[in-house]
Amino acid sequence: AAKKIKLRTIQDHLETRVLVQGWIHRLRVQKGVAFITLRDGTGFIQAVLSGDLAKARQTQELTLESTVVIKGVISKLPEGKTAPGGVELKADYYEIVGLAPSGDDAFTNKVQENADPSLLLDQRHLALRGESLSAVMKVRAAFLGAVRRFFAEEGLLEVTPPCMVQTQVEGGSTLFKMDYYGEEAYLTQSSQLYLETCLPALGDVYCVQESFRAEKSHTRRHLSEYTHIESELAFIEFEDLLSHLERLITKTVQYVLEDPVTAALVKQLNPNFQPPKMPFLRMEYIQALDWLNEHGVLNEDGEKFKFGDDIAEAAERKMTDTINQPILLIRFPVEIKSFYMQKCKDDPRVTESVDVLIPNVGEITGGSMRTYDHDELLAGIKREGLDADAYYWFIDQRKYGTCPHGGYGLGTERILAWLCDRFTVRDCSLYPRFSGRCKP
Ligand code: 4AD
Ligand code: MG
Repeated sequence: AAKKIKLRTIQDHLETRVLVQGWIHRLRVQKGVAFITLRDGTGFIQAVLSGDLAKARQTQELTLESTVVIKGVISKLPEGKTAPGGVELKADYYEIVGLAPSGDDAFTNKVQENADPSLLLDQRHLALRGESLSAVMKVRAAFLGAVRRFFAEEGLLEVTPPCMVQTQVEGGSTLFKMDYYGEEAYLTQSSQLYLETCLPALGDVYCVQESFRAEKSHTRRHLSEYTHIESELAFIEFEDLLSHLERLITKTVQYVLEDPVTAALVKQLNPNFQPPKMPFLRMEYIQALDWLNEHGVLNEDGEKFKFGDDIAEAAERKMTDTINQPILLIRFPVEIKSFYMQKCKDDPRVTESVDVLIPNVGEITGGSMRTYDHDELLAGIKREGLDADAYYWFIDQRKYGTCPHGGYGLGTERILAWLCDRFTVRDCSLYPRFSGRCKP
C-alpha cells in the first residue's frame, strides 16, 4: 500500500512508499528515463520514471501542468545531485488525471515570463501557478496569520464590519457608488467609523476587510480593492498609538520570519530584506518639508514646499528611499487630513496623525487620534461638506460616553510589496483590481 501524502511532508516519509498527486511543474523526458517535478501547492518533489514507465507512449506525450498521481518510494539523493528537498521519488506507477494541452495552447505559451503585464493579468488564473506569485500568496497568508496573532496578544477582538455602506471616510472623489435597492450606497473606503462604534461594546477591536477606492490613476501602490487591516484603541494617547504601530510592524514581520518555510520564501523573493528595528525614526510633517526643500524636491506646483502642501507619492518615496528605514511621519496639517482627526493640543493647525513610511513603497499605514468632542466632530463633518444626518450613528459615539481613542489602517498589499520586494502592489493581490481591470 502507498500512503497518500502532501508534498510539504516529504521529509517525514523517507524510505516510505507514498502516493502523491499534483501538477507537472517541470518535465524532462529522455530515452530511458523521465524526470517530473511535481507541484501540489504545498511543495515540490522530483519523480523519476524509468524502464517501461519512461518508454510508455503516455509518458512521451506528457505536458506541463497536466495532473498526475504517482506512487513510489522517497529516498535521499546521493551527494552531488540536486532536487527539491534533496530527495527523489522512484516511481513504480503513475496515471494521468488531466492532460493539459500541447501546441499553441500549451501552458508555456499562455504564461510567458516576459509577456506584456496586461496579457499576464488576463491569464492570472494560470500565472498564479508560477513560483514567485505563489510564493507571495504564501507569505501573504503567513502575514495575515501573524497580524491575527499580534492582535490576540495585544487583546484586540476581531470584528467584520459591512462592505456596503452609506457614509464616506476618506473623501468623495474615490467613492464607488452602487444602487442599493433604489437607495444610493457605497463600497466601503475604510471600516474605521464602524470600529469606533465597537469600542464601548467590545473594547479594542480590529478587522481584516476589503476596502474600495475608485483611484483613476495607475500607480505602483494603488488598487481599487485592497485588504485593509484596521484597528481602533480606546483610552490611548497619541504616543501609545505610535508605539503600537512600531510593535505591529516589527512583530508581524518577526512572526512571518520565525517559520522556516515562510522565511525561505521571503529569502527567495527578497534576499536583501532587513527586518525593521524599534524605535522607528520620528519626523514631523514640518521637518519633512524642510528635508524635501533641503534635498531640492519640489511640490506639485513645481515650487518649494510650504505648510499645507500635500506630500505626494514621488516626493514621499524620494524621502523614504534616501533615508532607507521606516519613518513615523506625524502631525499633518488639518486641511490635508480627514475630518475626524484630533487636533494637537499645543498647535491646533496640526493633527495627532501618523503615516508609517517604508522604503520603496512610501505610506503603508495612515492613522490618527480621533476627535472625541461632539461639537468639534460636527464642525469637522460640516467642514468636509458631509451630510451630518447620515453620520448620526457615528456622532452618537460622542454623545453616549465619549472617550479619547485612536486607530489606523494598514494596506496589506503595500506592506507585502516591501516584504516581498515587488515593484507594484498588483503583484501582492490574488486578482488585482484597478481601473480598466475587473477580470478574471
Ligand atoms: O490612509 P488611508 O486612506 O486611511 C484610512 O482609510 C483610515 N480611515 C484608516 C483608519 O484610520 N482606520 O488608508 C490607510 C492605508 C494606507 O496607508 C495604505 O496602506 C492603504 O490603506 N491604501 C491603499 N492600498 C492600496 N490601494 C489603495 N488605493 C489604497 N488606499 C489606501
Ligand atoms: Mg493615507
